[in-house]
Parts: sequence; C-alpha cells; structure tokens
Amino acid sequence: MSENNGSTRAFDTAAADFDRLGEYLWRPIAAATLARTAPAAGERVLDACCGTGASALPTAEAIGAAGRVDAVDLSEGLIEILRQRAAGYSQLYPHIGDVTAWPDGGYDLVQVVLGIFFFPDMTAGTEYLISRVRPGGRAGFTIWRRGAVETAGKHLATAVAAVTGTPPPSPRPAHPVDELNQPEPFGTWLGERGLTDITVAEHELRLSMTPEIAWLLITGSGFAGAFTELDAAQTAAVRDAYLTSLDNAGIRDLDATTLIGVGRRP
Ligand SMILES: C[S@@+](CC[C@H](N)C(=O)[O-])C[C@H]1O[C@@H](n2cnc3c(N)ncnc32)[C@H](O)[C@@H]1O
Repeated sequence: MSENNGSTRAFDTAAADFDRLGEYLWRPIAAATLARTAPAAGERVLDACCGTGASALPTAEAIGAAGRVDAVDLSEGLIEILRQRAAGYSQLYPHIGDVTAWPDGGYDLVQVVLGIFFFPDMTAGTEYLISRVRPGGRAGFTIWRRGAVETAGKHLATAVAAVTGTPPPSPRPAHPVDELNQPEPFGTWLGERGLTDITVAEHELRLSMTPEIAWLLITGSGFAGAFTELDAAQTAAVRDAYLTSLDNAGIRDLDATTLIGVGRRP
C-alpha cells in the first residue's frame, strides 16, 4: 500500500478517524483474517500491530476467559482507544510497544493484520514474530494485494503537490512488499521464513468512495502522514483537490483486497 511511505506516527494523530474507518476497512479485513487464523478457546495469542483492536477484540471473544491475547501497537492513541474497549475482557492485554522487539514467546498464534510492511526490515521483523510462536503453533499475516488502495495514494499525492506548489509526485519508491503481494509469491516467501502447511487466501473487498469515506481513508490511515506539515487551510484545500481528482477520474469505489497467509511453525 502507498501507506508504506507514511510514518506510523500518523496513526497517533489520526486515532479517532482510524477508528471510524474500522467499520468500512479494518473490521471486515480482521474478520476475514480470523476466519483463517482461527483463534480457539484457551489459546495464547499475540495480535501484533493491533490498532484499536479490529482483530484483537474478536480474538478475545474467540479464546474466552481461559485464553490470553497480547495486543501490541506503537501508537499510544490507538492503544488508548483499545484500552477503553478492552475493559470488559480480562483476557485482553493492550500494550504500547514495538512488536519487532516484543519479548514474550511460546504463543499458539501470532497474527499481524496490515502491519508487516511498516517494519523497517519487513523480512527480519516477520521472522522475529514467527519466532514468538510455539513449535506447532500458527502465524498469520495479512497484506494488501497488488494494486489495492494505491489509487487513493496517487490522487492524494497529486492533490498535495497542487496545494503546496511542489512538482507532481514521482511514482512511490519500491518497497519489498511489492515483490510478494500476489498469492503465489506470498506463500513462497512465508515458506522461506520457515512456515509449513501454508495457505494464502484472497479476501476481495471494494470500498465505496463516498466523499466521507474517501477522505476518512486518508485521515484515518498512514496516508495522513502525507500532510502532517500542512496547516488547516492547506489541509482543507488538499481535501477538495483530492475529492475533485477522484471525481474527475470517475472513481466511485476502490479495491481494498487483501491476502491472508497462514502457516505453521514446525
Ligand atoms: C494499517 S494499521 C492496522 C491496524 C490493525 N491491525 C487493523 O487492522 O485495524 C497498521 C498498524 O501497525 C502499527 N505498527 C507499525 N509498525 C509497528 C511496530 N513495529 N510495532 C507495533 N506496531 C506497529 C501502526 O501503529 C498501526 O497501528
């Protein structure tokens, strides 16, 4: 996703909008992920890059009071929202932290929904998380399928350039995830990380781009990092330019399809 270019710090400032976007994006994707990772009663789960709990909360439901889910995210704002929601679940433990240095291990399941491509070293971070799984346990990783949500990033970048009077944006730099965001390479890559019994599922999703949702997609995600330096008037101008640009291009909905890769640690 072009979100890769945005700082994860953007999630702190965008916490409320991030949470509102959950209804359209994070929660449906989390539900599809859980259908594959299948957290079960009594299990110990690490929900890495948990955001406001789109996958951690239903995981807590699935594992029940005898289980435990550690939900970890770098963003204090997002964890604060999750803490308020977690109050009713004694088995759900929200933590502010960097999952690529999370000390605990021996988990029955480690799951990361739309998180690994933010790691400074995606491969090393993913291998580290797999090492947190007990032998015989499962790891599940959800990433955007090639091309998903990119259109929004292109229209946003053009709008920011127009408002700030900077040259039109060049294509976003390559990211290692670009090499594996199709089912077959993703499965191969997970195998190279040491997993076995790998399945990769495609979860088709189209996001209806009403003006409200189209802008929420920006302010409630890592895309918000593209204009953290702008003042309120410039931000309003970016919003108008972005929505006009989408409208002129006839974009009414957006591909938000994900790949869900699950495997077992031998
Ligand atoms: C696109 S959001 C997805 C959040 C959540 N999994 C969901 O689906 O709603 C990515 C999240 O990864 C978090 N993140 C990125 N790198 C991280 C790291 N090294 N440790 C912990 N969280 C991280 C960000 O703060 C952000 O909340």
